[in-house]
This record gives sequence, structure tokens and C-alpha cells, in this order.
Amino acid sequence: METKIDNTAIDNFAHKSKSWDMNSKRVKNAQSIADLIVNKIELSKTMELMDFGAGTGLLSFFVAPHVAKIVAVDNSPSMLIEFKNKSQEFSCETEVIEKDLSCETLDRKYDGIISSMTIHHLKDTTALFSKFYNMLHKGGFMAIADLDSEDGSFHSDNTGVFHYGFNREVLKEIAKEVGFKEIAFELASTIKKPQSDFTVFLMTAVK
Ligand SMILES: C[S@@+](CC[C@H](N)C(=O)[O-])C[C@H]1O[C@@H](n2cnc3c(N)ncnc32)[C@H](O)[C@@H]1O
Repeated sequence: METKIDNTAIDNFAHKSKSWDMNSKRVKNAQSIADLIVNKIELSKTMELMDFGAGTGLLSFFVAPHVAKIVAVDNSPSMLIEFKNKSQEFSCETEVIEKDLSCETLDRKYDGIISSMTIHHLKDTTALFSKFYNMLHKGGFMAIADLDSEDGSFHSDNTGVFHYGFNREVLKEIAKEVGFKEIAFELASTIKKPQSDFTVFLMTAVK
């Protein structure tokens, strides 16, 4: 297991990491996304995936029984500590890499990239999808879940939030532009909050 900790960066999730998994709506959302990924994509016990913005590993946990290895990539040391604390509970091999993909690259290739509720934290989606494309083997997939366009009320504090959800058509064009094929969207879950219901899409695409 590889861990690189850079203590100079700001950890936007430091105050949330310990209690992250205690929110049952969050766990249910991750499970719904994982169920849809497992239903839509032919996974195998030989595959190595990257979970981008893996956090404490909610999505990884539910996908783990279907693959050989999941590499958790995240720029929050505190979230990755929680991931590592649970690593014995994952039904596949795991590895943790601290990286900020908004400004760094990772010279690795995967059979697939999964991600849940993370890409709204990165300003330049085209640059991110281009990095994802380069990090996939030919025929590899990405399965990315995030919020549909919202009014900015989903997060109680929008620090570090660069997109109030996404317009699916805009995202499809970006994925197409960087070379992805077979781009499709499905509703993965609905998160009910007092102020509104928020839908979460799963976008799938192939290199
Ligand atoms: C809303 S949390 C989602 C965590 C997990 N995927 C889940 O569904 O529970 C977003 C995660 O993305 C990570 N993140 C945000 N910006 C990032 C970046 N530029 N590079 C890597 N990880 C990032 C955060 O540290 C955090 O763990």
C-alpha cells in the first residue's frame, strides 16, 4: 500500500472525515451508485480500478467484491486515513494515493475509473476528463456519479465547490471532446434534503 501525505495543502474535508460514514443518506447514495455500476458494467475479479475522490471509501466498499483492486486517489489526508482504517473490510486489494488531480497527474493506467460526488470539486472538467482518458487502458471505462444541475443549496457551505451540479448534455460534449465513446447517463439516486430533492446521475463512457 502506497501513501503519500503532503501536510502543506489545505484539507477541505478535515472536519468531516471522522463522521463521514455516519450519514445514512450518504451511505445509501453510494450503495445506489455502486449497484448501478455493477449492473451496467461488466466487472471482473482481474480488474484494477481507480476510485477518484474516494474519500473514506463508501463507493469502493460496495464495488470491491466485483474487482481485484481499487486504488483510492484523493487529496484529503484525513479522508484517506479513514479509508486506510477500513482497508481490512474491503473485499479486494486496496491502495491509497494522495493526489490533487486539479494540478497533478498520476502516471498509472486502470481498467476503469469510478467516482462519486467528487467532480464538482474540480474547476476544469475538460482537463480532468482528459486526465481520466489518459489513465485508462484502451477499452477501459469511466463511471462517474455527481449531482444534476442544482441551485447551490445542496451544500451548506460551498467552499471548494466549483459546479452546482452538471448539465448532462454539457458533460457529454466534454467527454466526447476528449475522446470518450459510448457516453450514457442514468439516474443513480435521489437525495432528499429539507430544502429540496437532488438527483444524482451516473455517467458511463468507454475509451
Ligand atoms: C463529497 S466527497 C465524496 C467522497 C466519496 N466519493 C463518497 O462518495 O463518499 C469528495 C471527495 O473528493 C476529494 N477531492 C476533492 N477535490 C479533489 C481533487 N482536486 N483531487 C483529489 N480528490 C479531491 C475530497 O477530498 C473528498 O474526499
